[in-house]
Amino acid sequence: MGMSGELNHRGLAALAKTYGGLFHMKMGRIHMVAVSTAEMAREVLQTQDHVFSNRPANNSIRYLTYDRADMAFAHYGPFWRQMRKICVTKLFSRKRAGSWASAREEIDSFVKTLDSRVGSSVNVGETVLGLTKNITYRAAFGSVSRDGQGDFSGLLNIADFFPWLGWMNGRDLNRRLTNARGALDGFIDKIIDDHINKKNRKCNNNNNSEEEGEVEDDMVDELMEFYDENGNANNDLKSSSISITRDNIKALIMDVMFGGTETVASAIEWAMAELMKSPQDLKKVQQELAEVVGFDRKVNESDLEKLPYFKCVIKETLRLHPPIPLLLHETASEATINGYTIPAGARVMINVWAIGRDPTQWADPDKFDPSRFLEDGTPDFKGSNFEYIPFGSGRRSCPGMQLGLYGLELTVAHLCHSFNWELPDGMKPNELDMNDLFGLTAPRAVQLVAVPKHRLNIPLL
Ligand code: HEM
Repeated sequence: MGMSGELNHRGLAALAKTYGGLFHMKMGRIHMVAVSTAEMAREVLQTQDHVFSNRPANNSIRYLTYDRADMAFAHYGPFWRQMRKICVTKLFSRKRAGSWASAREEIDSFVKTLDSRVGSSVNVGETVLGLTKNITYRAAFGSVSRDGQGDFSGLLNIADFFPWLGWMNGRDLNRRLTNARGALDGFIDKIIDDHINKKNRKCNNNNNSEEEGEVEDDMVDELMEFYDENGNANNDLKSSSISITRDNIKALIMDVMFGGTETVASAIEWAMAELMKSPQDLKKVQQELAEVVGFDRKVNESDLEKLPYFKCVIKETLRLHPPIPLLLHETASEATINGYTIPAGARVMINVWAIGRDPTQWADPDKFDPSRFLEDGTPDFKGSNFEYIPFGSGRRSCPGMQLGLYGLELTVAHLCHSFNWELPDGMKPNELDMNDLFGLTAPRAVQLVAVPKHRLNIPLL
C-alpha cells in the first residue's frame, strides 16, 4: 500500500494511533494535518474556526466548480457567506416545501416500485442511489425536465476529482472532467433558459398567474430571483442586494447534486445493511412501527417523532458510517494548536469516522448498538458534541442536514414498515460483507442485495 492508499479514513485512523489526535505530514510542497479526536476537532471547528474554514481545491475541482463559483468549494469570506445565505434561506429551508414534497413523492413511487419486485432479489444499493438522484434532480429542476438526467448523473462521481486524489492526473482524468462539465453545461443551459422564460411569462401575466402558480417552484426558480446575466450588483431596491451569474447557478446545482445524492444513499444502504446483519434490531424497529403505525397504513413523516428506537438506529448508522468520513478544510493563515505551528494553506483532514469510533469516547466502539443513543445526554447531530459530527460542525457544517435527514429517515422507515426483508440464497446475517470503500463518501464495497416480502394488510398504492 503506497502513501496515497493510506490517506483514507482508515489509514489516517491507524496513523493517529501512533502519532496522536493531531499530526502533520508533508507531501511534496503540501502540508497536511490530520485531526482524529473530538478535542482537536473542537479546536479546529470551533475555537479557531476563523483560521480553519477555507476549502482545499485542486485544478479538477476548480474546473468543475467554475473556479469556485459555488458554495462548497468557495473559501470562507463574503462571497461564501452570500452563497450560504441563499442556500440556507432559499434552497434548503424547511419553508421551501417543494424540496420536501419532492422527497416524499419520489419515496412513495420508490416503495411502489419495490412492491412490484416482492419475492425477488433487489440490489438495495443501486435502487436507493436511483431514488436519491431522482429526489435531488426533481428538487433542483422540477418535475418537468427529466431529459438529460441519465447522461448527467452517470458522470457525477466526485470522488474521482477530489484533492487528495491528485495522483490520478493525466489524460483520463481530463477526459472525465471535460465530460462531466460538458454534460452539465449542455443541459443546464437549456434548463436555465426555460426558467428565464418561465419567470418572464410570470412577470407578464402578473394578474393572471393562476395557471403558472400551479407549477411548483424548484431550486432553479429560487435562484432566478438573484440572477443577473452580467454579474452586476443588483440595485433593485425591492429585491436583495445579492446577485449571481449563470456560472454560480450551475456550480450551486453541482453542489446540490454532489452533496445531497451519494451521502443520503450511502446512509440508507448502511442502515439497511446493519439492520439485516442484526435481525434483533430490525425486529425492534418493526415492533415499534407495528405499535405506532399498525399494519393497515403506510408510515408517514408525522410518525417519525414517535419512533425513538428507529431514530437511534439512524444515529448509530451515521456514527459508524458517516457518509463523508473526512472533512476537508484548509488554513487561511498560520495557526498554533497544541504547541504545533500549522502553516497557512495547509490541508486539514478531520477524521469524522475515527472520532465516531474513538474508544475513549464510545464503549465497544465498533459494535452496532442503537440502544447506546437511548440514554440521557447522548450526543445529537447538531455539531456541539464533537465526538459525533456526521454533519460537521460550525461555519462549514452541512446546510442540507434537515433535508438529508428527512430523506434518510423517511426512506428507511418505509423500507422497514412496508416490507419484511430476507437475504438472498440462504445467506446468513453474519456472512454480509461490511467493508467500505474510500471515496468522498464511504460506500459499501459490496452493494446490499436483499429480498423484500409483503408486510402490511393493504396494497402499497
Ligand atoms: C445524510 C446526509 C448528509 C450528510 C451526512 C452530510 C454531511 C456533510 C458534511 C460532513 C459536510 C462538510 C462539513 C465540513 O466540511 O466541515 C457537508 C457539507 C455540505 N453539504 Fe451535506 N450532508 C448530507 C446531505 C446533504 C444534502 C441533502 C445537501 C443538499 C441538498 C447537502 C449539501 C451540502 C453542501 C452544499 C455542503 C457544503 C457547505 C459549505 O462548504 O459551506 N448535504 N455535508
